[in-house]
Amino acid sequence: MIVGISGSPKDGNNNAVMRKILDSFENSELIRCDSVKVAPCIACNYCASHDHCVQSDDGNKVNEKLAKADAIIISSPVYFGSMTGQLKCLFDRTLPLRRNGFKLKGKIGAAVAVGGSRSGGQELTIKDIHAWMLIHAMVIVGDNNHFGGTVHVPYSKDSFGEETVEGTIFAVESLLRRLKC
Ligand SMILES: Cc1cc2nc3c(=O)[nH]c(=O)nc-3n(C[C@H](O)[C@H](O)[C@H](O)COP(=O)(O)O)c2cc1C
Repeated sequence: MIVGISGSPKDGNNNAVMRKILDSFENSELIRCDSVKVAPCIACNYCASHDHCVQSDDGNKVNEKLAKADAIIISSPVYFGSMTGQLKCLFDRTLPLRRNGFKLKGKIGAAVAVGGSRSGGQELTIKDIHAWMLIHAMVIVGDNNHFGGTVHVPYSKDSFGEETVEGTIFAVESLLRRLKC
């Protein structure tokens, strides 16, 4: 099972990138930040003694989906050189997964960033997504060349970005094959 997360607050380039990526896999599900409601972590420490978050929005449902994934592929718009606030909120709310047996440990992770400029901070954004993956003890792949998918809007016209997205798909597929044989 491949779970994708699109970090955009609207149905734009990131959702298109994630649709393309997830269409390459037989069994996949997309979590869209323009559809789920996940409030910021309030650091209440409820998850230090419970396996879920005290807040009753979509955060726990997102965590259940992430816990079932073999690979998690994440795309974010670049906002001021990093991920969107919506995606950061979702990341912070995954703390119950880490505090209750590192439920994302060993899962494959890959990242894509979509910017309004060619060099607007895509690699910095990917590094920030990678930090979340590393802190969950996930195993990261890039695009078999550099960091992952680096896209410049509009995605439909970015042939360079498309190559990095295809390389990222290939890197995830290759590792899935190796781990399952
Ligand atoms: C608040 C804000 C900050 C942004 N900062 C950057 C930036 O630092 N670098 C960049 O290349 N693009 C920046 N952009 C452009 C977005 O990255 C771009 O429009 C986005 O990737 C489009 O993705 P979407 O169509 O999925 O929403 C910014 C856009 C917004 C709204």
